[in-house]
Amino acid sequence: MKALEGVRILDFTHVQSGPTCTQLLGWFGADVIKVERPGSGDATRKQLVDVEGEDSLYFTMLNHNKRSLTLNSKNDTGKKVLERLVKECDVLVENFAPGALDRMGFSWDRIQELNPRMIMASVKGFGPGPYEDCKVYENVAQCAGGSASTTGFRDGPPLVTGSQIGDSGTGLNLALGIVTALFQREKTGRGQRVLAAMQDGVLNLCRVKLRDQQRLDHGPLKEYSQYGEGVPFGEATPRAGNDSGGGQPGRILKCRGWESDPNAYTYFITQAAVWGKICDVIGKPEWREAPDFATPAARLPHLNDVFDAIEQWTMTKTKYEVMEICNPLDIPVGPILSMKELAEEPSLRETGTIVEVDHPGRGKYLTVGCPVKLSDSPAQVTRSPLLGEHTDEILSQVLHYSDDEISEIRQSGAV
Ligand code: COA
Repeated sequence: MKALEGVRILDFTHVQSGPTCTQLLGWFGADVIKVERPGSGDATRKQLVDVEGEDSLYFTMLNHNKRSLTLNSKNDTGKKVLERLVKECDVLVENFAPGALDRMGFSWDRIQELNPRMIMASVKGFGPGPYEDCKVYENVAQCAGGSASTTGFRDGPPLVTGSQIGDSGTGLNLALGIVTALFQREKTGRGQRVLAAMQDGVLNLCRVKLRDQQRLDHGPLKEYSQYGEGVPFGEATPRAGNDSGGGQPGRILKCRGWESDPNAYTYFITQAAVWGKICDVIGKPEWREAPDFATPAARLPHLNDVFDAIEQWTMTKTKYEVMEICNPLDIPVGPILSMKELAEEPSLRETGTIVEVDHPGRGKYLTVGCPVKLSDSPAQVTRSPLLGEHTDEILSQVLHYSDDEISEIRQSGAV
């Protein structure tokens, strides 16, 4: 028995944000019926193709644990099938461009008429306001949500991050909204609308930068490197390179081999509680008591000196050696792990965080498993469906169409 067993999801999502959400619900045991346009399906099936003729990794890695039903929702018969699906499902999830569902004839009012218990969950780029009608992709959300303006180095341009905080991050928010709405429905018997806007999701994750924006009114941000370098602050939260966001200064430092290995680096945090141990490890025991270095406040104008000295030490060690030496001393450090290293890490395979999946067309590939582990509902990753693989099964088993009716639906071009 899985946590969401018995919950049926009408999955009208595409690309990344919505599929992330429904994949999570599938991992928790929901029956996810992915509705795709006949002939082409989710556009990502054929984007960034690495094995000719097969579904791309872009698609397969976002659509595990789902069934695929092809359906033309603009065809009259297709609309009738969709109406029946709305009546049979608990949740409709979509991330079309604003207005697309209304144009199909499935407004929120119509959906409530068909099924008052339906939870209708949407990802949009922006919430209500001046930009609500815009189409949005990941990097637009990172830029509009405050992440890009605060990522990168002060003397460089804004940067986007490799973490898909706009798409996958918003998908997580949407999934939480859906389970919360399901929980409320237990008490009220009613469905509701759930909206997760990508700008809101990114901004929410950037809260420490909004915090710093307000702190700027009361003086310079002393933990930022630019303070120690004597560079005045402007009006907005600046980019802070690899400075750590909290009150415990940290940076990325070179380790042995950095000249040829782009990932021979470590993150190193000068946590106040272990300052003495840091001084001993890097061979600067005199800094324990020196007036410019002994306290966190005294160190702030000298962070470049502090990290230069630590780096002289980390450059003599590999990133793993730094970890082995510092961890027993409770000095927080973290190696910069490449995708190759993560893909090969046995412990991540054991926990199901990285999973090997077998696909009939493309063979074996790696994907990320469920990042949230439930002891009573362990997630088992099953391969993504082929386009329309479950169309007949869903028409007959879920919607109870007879064989004759299914042939008529097929003849109408709806599936
Ligand atoms: N049958 C018939 N028509 C279908 C269909 C189906 N099964 N599935 C989709 N369509 C139609 C839609 O109704 C829409 O038609 P319309 O424009 O005539 O109303 C059309 O396909 C295109 O949908 P749209 O969502 O506009 O796709 P797009 O490729 O042009 O835009 C996004 C893609 C992601 C930019 C856009 O969907 C969007 O902004 N989504 C919200 C934000 C979001 O989730 N972004 C992150 C994506 S990772």
